[in-house]
Amino acid sequence: MNVTVFGTGYVGLVQAAVLAEAGNKVVCIDIDNEKIDRLKQGHIPIYEPGLEPMVKNGINTGNLSFSTNAADGVGHGELIFIAVGTPPDEDGSADLSHVLTVAKTIARHMNGKKFIITKSTVPVGTADKVRAAVEEQLAELNRSDLAFDIISNPEFLKEGSAVADCMRPDRIIIGTSEAESEQKLRHLYAPFNRNHEKILVMDVKSAELTKYAANCMLATKISFMNEMANIADKVGADIEAVRKGIGSDPRVGYQFIYAGIGYGGSCFPKDVKALIASAQQLGLSADILSAVESRNERQKHYLAEKILGHYGDNLKGKTFALWGLSFKPNTDDMREAPSRVLLERLWESGAKVRAFDPEAMDECRRIYGSRDDLVLCNSKYDALQGANALVVATEWQQFKTLDIDDLKSILVEAVVFDGRNQYEPSEMQKAGFDYYCVGRPD
Ligand code: UGA
Repeated sequence: MNVTVFGTGYVGLVQAAVLAEAGNKVVCIDIDNEKIDRLKQGHIPIYEPGLEPMVKNGINTGNLSFSTNAADGVGHGELIFIAVGTPPDEDGSADLSHVLTVAKTIARHMNGKKFIITKSTVPVGTADKVRAAVEEQLAELNRSDLAFDIISNPEFLKEGSAVADCMRPDRIIIGTSEAESEQKLRHLYAPFNRNHEKILVMDVKSAELTKYAANCMLATKISFMNEMANIADKVGADIEAVRKGIGSDPRVGYQFIYAGIGYGGSCFPKDVKALIASAQQLGLSADILSAVESRNERQKHYLAEKILGHYGDNLKGKTFALWGLSFKPNTDDMREAPSRVLLERLWESGAKVRAFDPEAMDECRRIYGSRDDLVLCNSKYDALQGANALVVATEWQQFKTLDIDDLKSILVEAVVFDGRNQYEPSEMQKAGFDYYCVGRPD
């Protein structure tokens, strides 16, 4: 099928590459000239396993192309995805200006019936606004004869496994009430709808709300477990035992119940805030979500509090090795990362940091520039040199394996602050470490 994708961020680029891989002719449109030029060469702006070879393959087969020419893009695609950003406004609600601008652009260049699909995470009611924007633009151009439909088709991919999630989705939600739209999207997604039925067709508003409800439910699980971890700390219980104890009940499940130093990234924090704002605009109070958010904000300070508890408020003269900067493993994304709160608290208290992350070093350099109290190191061992203590903020695979003897001989003091419960407290204590973790007796 002929597909156009507006927006070459995470969602748009992965969606485009995967649809091209499945044999569709996909054109990606973005207003960022430089980004499009680089994409044409097969250079992708983000670290995402498997994406670069897929994009290069798409370019080579001719199934995937990039352009800044919106008119060509609209002319090409019968199915047009809107996958541009919806950054939070000052009050936390999603800013729809990019989405609505694209809607008008599509209307300006329409040359026949178009199926316009919102892929960005957008509040309930956005499809109606997109529809109104398209109608208004068509009316201005005296082209109200042109037919179109607005479909909600939210994305559920995770950074770090985005390609795999898109290739093998656990569900494909199609929000439409028009039979023709449903049939078009069923056809598009047929290659991904294998083994069992994954397509769920529902009305547009339910599809829009499903996306927020999914992310907010997951964020709730995490904040709930973080709250339990804080209680476990006080009573001397072990959150890891509690996790297994409740996860074994299939009604709870094992996934997304790991306590830590809070969720980050571009989705959970933004979507929780946006749904709170939507609820408020509707005259409701989102009590649960407000609690989820405030628990998360506090949780990001958890390790800093432990560090200050151990060393006192003044960290002048202390150096910390920091393992992990990205908000989670397998990404270079530091948006809303707990590591940022930690870094800033350490610096405020006068400490120096020697940091290492397998992918997020450039991103860290971009955010913080060069400063005397930050050394970006070449390896996890390099980061330990001259450090008083080790602090783990992200559970990258390479941090899981720990040579305790090596660690002890390199660190100035045998102290570890582990924000992701990567090591066994009893082993660390036996080896003579002061070992602090989340919700486990330390
Ligand atoms: C999330 C959702 O998982 C995707 O389904 C959704 O499509 C995406 O947002 C989106 O809206 O685009 P992502 O932000 O990539 O995906 O990250 P997750 O893997 O969900 O992790 C989010 C955060 O939760 C991370 O900071 C992670 O460290 C934290 N987390 C996760 C925990 O603290 N504990 C857990 O048990 C699981």
